[in-house]
Amino acid sequence: MNRVAVVTGGTRGIGRAVCEQLKTDGFNVVANYAGNDKAAQECAEEAGISCYKFDVGDHEAVMTGCQQIHDEIGPIEVVVNNAGITRDGTLTKMSYEDWHEVMRINLGGCFNMAKACFPGMREREWGRIVNIGSINGQAGQYGQVNYAAAKSGIHGFTKALAQEGARSNVTVNAIAPGYIDTDMVAAVPQGVLDKIVAKIPVGRLGQADEIARGVSFLCSEDAGFVTGSTISINGGQHMY
Ligand code: CAA
Repeated sequence: MNRVAVVTGGTRGIGRAVCEQLKTDGFNVVANYAGNDKAAQECAEEAGISCYKFDVGDHEAVMTGCQQIHDEIGPIEVVVNNAGITRDGTLTKMSYEDWHEVMRINLGGCFNMAKACFPGMREREWGRIVNIGSINGQAGQYGQVNYAAAKSGIHGFTKALAQEGARSNVTVNAIAPGYIDTDMVAAVPQGVLDKIVAKIPVGRLGQADEIARGVSFLCSEDAGFVTGSTISINGGQHMY
């Protein structure tokens, strides 16, 4: 039977590309999403992916949602923590709510998904967790103290949990994407984005499937000795 892979924020952008790649790789893929029913319907119809709606930042909702996936589809053997939001603004203008919401979803979501799925992976002695961090968690970014802190936190979370899973063949890794051609990046004001793209040595935004192929490797049998690592896929924008 095909292994079950859950991709959070899986119906759009990088998440959608990851779902399609993992499906091609032979996983039984489930996309989680929080609010956009239309995108979920398209993902289900166009890509044949099962979609489950719950807020990854809500601990109880994650425990219930993952139990439901377990009961209806099968034990969750791969988790891709991709769900994330931005609430950009300089610190002076950033509200506590903007800070907290980004931490709750982007970083809290990783904790909640791991709480729901990691114990079963350890018991079954196989698992793959891939956390989507960011170049901005590695290098920082003007106007993103919330996002940079959460993404940087993801990189620490990855290295700590990797140590807890290693003996049970549960690998925990991160990908740090650079600026990828998605709705999230499209929301950056054009003038600001032009300046950012000018600093990318490869000379363009990345494509979602270029991230998905990195996730695919980390989820494969071949990557069993890779754990606690971060793969930067950023067109050379930040060499870490
Ligand atoms: N370094 C230093 N100064 C900067 C700067 C920078 N990087 N960027 C802007 N400034 C300066 C501006 O020149 C300006 O100075 P003056 O007033 O002297 O002209 C001042 O800061 C204010 O700049 P803005 O007009 O841009 O301020 P704003 O309040 O209108 O907007 C902002 C601030 C919302 C943060 C806006 O700059 C912005 O959207 N920046 C992009 C942030 C970003 O890259 N987000 C990434 C989203 S995608 C993502 O996160 C995915 C991923 O993982 C990569």
